Amino acid sequence: MHRTTLGVPREAGAREKRVAIVPETVAKLAELGFDVIVEAGAGAEAGFDDAAYEEAGATVSGPESYREAPAEDPWKADLVVKVSPPSESEAKRLREGATLVSLLQPESNSELMAALEAEKVSAIALDKIPRITRAQKMDVLSSMANLAGYRAVLEGAAAYQGFMGAQVTAAGTDPPAKVLVIGAGVAGLAAIATAHAMGAEVRAFDVRPATAEQVESLGGKFLMLDFEESGEGGGGYAKVMSEEFIEAEMALFREQAREVDLVITTALIPGKKAPTLLPEDVVAELRPGSVVVDLAAAAGGNCVYTKADEVVVHEGVTILGYTDLPSRMAHTASRFFSANVRHLLTDMVGEEGFVLDLEDEVVRAATQIHEGERLPPPPRKEPTPPPKPEPPREAAPRKEPEEESGAGKAVGTVIGAAIAAAAFALVGLFAPEDFVQHFTVFILACFVGWQIVWAVAPALHTPLMSVTNAISGIVLVGGLVQAAPGGSGLPVILGAVALLIGTINVAGGFLVTERMLGMFKKGGPK
Ligand code: NAI
Repeated sequence: MHRTTLGVPREAGAREKRVAIVPETVAKLAELGFDVIVEAGAGAEAGFDDAAYEEAGATVSGPESYREAPAEDPWKADLVVKVSPPSESEAKRLREGATLVSLLQPESNSELMAALEAEKVSAIALDKIPRITRAQKMDVLSSMANLAGYRAVLEGAAAYQGFMGAQVTAAGTDPPAKVLVIGAGVAGLAAIATAHAMGAEVRAFDVRPATAEQVESLGGKFLMLDFEESGEGGGGYAKVMSEEFIEAEMALFREQAREVDLVITTALIPGKKAPTLLPEDVVAELRPGSVVVDLAAAAGGNCVYTKADEVVVHEGVTILGYTDLPSRMAHTASRFFSANVRHLLTDMVGEEGFVLDLEDEVVRAATQIHEGERLPPPPRKEPTPPPKPEPPREAAPRKEPEEESGAGKAVGTVIGAAIAAAAFALVGLFAPEDFVQHFTVFILACFVGWQIVWAVAPALHTPLMSVTNAISGIVLVGGLVQAAPGGSGLPVILGAVALLIGTINVAGGFLVTERMLGMFKKGGPK
């Protein structure tokens, strides 16, 4: 297996504090056949110092060392891994035949793409990894959006001058903050979960109805729009909605704006300008002091007043347009990013070492330039048709109870009743009087037990059992009578045994119930 040099340059962007590979990943990459070269200080802003990289087995190099040993220049490695797209001048530092792995946003970076083509390199865009099950562990966009959704709530809560959760204090009470999340993709769902965990009352809207269940499961209320149009665009992304739909949506938000304190907008269709969902008249409905966090700021914003990377205050409403939310959690974001890249590279290593295999669906979708040649978008895969219903099996079909005809059921009931009546008549005629009394009580007990068990939900059968078990406490009374002083012989022994077993039965039933109920409480059974 040939070894590959992997360069990790320092990120140049002023707001970019993340680093593409963290020390924890270096050793794992070495096992895969990569020799990692890290530019000095690359991880400093994310809390990873050069010593940690060296300890993990990487070569740390600075401009002085490149001059003496050009092979130690991370930009001259076989594979260069970055977080943000490189600048055109950085692209020129790549050597011919090298591979660049980075976020690239090829649609909006055509000049950079041309520069990379000119350098005759291969370029893999991490933002083009398809959202399919196999690629989830490599999906940088999802892991960063998850962090961004979380951070958006924290930033919004910090700018909001109230509590997120309800407060009851000696000075008075405060209701929970009301949070509206627009767009329930990865970032939106993370925002819903975070705001809910902080005690806020969360409501959310998305054009993809499939998200309603996820919203509700995270503690949010899904807002329904009375409009027949699905935003499902395939691959977990939305499609561009009609003008009428957006109108109806804005009317919904106008109504919501009168109530909510914090709005988090994440609505986006990949590669398109973000739809304007909070126009002037919607923002005008927001109370002074309320906050909008616009995650789509980099794509033009969902709010009409959003300015990328700025805080705008419009008539008392604060609008945050941060585009660097993951970078504000640089340490964690770098660890996630690095893990995603490692998963991608693990899949790209074959018996011979690292290869860019265009036959691989994920690699093909992410590769924008192959050996200096711009690749067309991969052919769209037709969705797999739903599986055909299985033909009925040859074996004799098992008759399900509900398949019985109504007439058959009635006949069964009549026969059962007749047999029971005959049995009663026989008992009445031939059994002693005592027995008839006990037998009647027994039959009544069966009937009452049957009714109780069927009326209680199966999930509560254990507590029910322990309570009904306690009825067997009657055995204890019998045992006490038999084992009472004055008695002797077998009845005393049997009475004592009945006492012991009856006590175990009653106490044990309650212990089991307590354990079971414990499973439904936080922290599980004790
Ligand atoms: P996503 O594609 O998973 O989610 C976007 C959601 O918006 C989708 O569920 C889509 O159905 C929905 N949507 C589209 N049009 C809509 C409309 N008209 N009304 C309501 N919902 C609509 O994207 P993801 O990964 O959750 O990211 C969300 C946004 O956050 C993107 O704009 C992304 O670029 C941005 N982002 C921002 C960061 C920052 O630092 N500001 C960091 C990471 C992501």
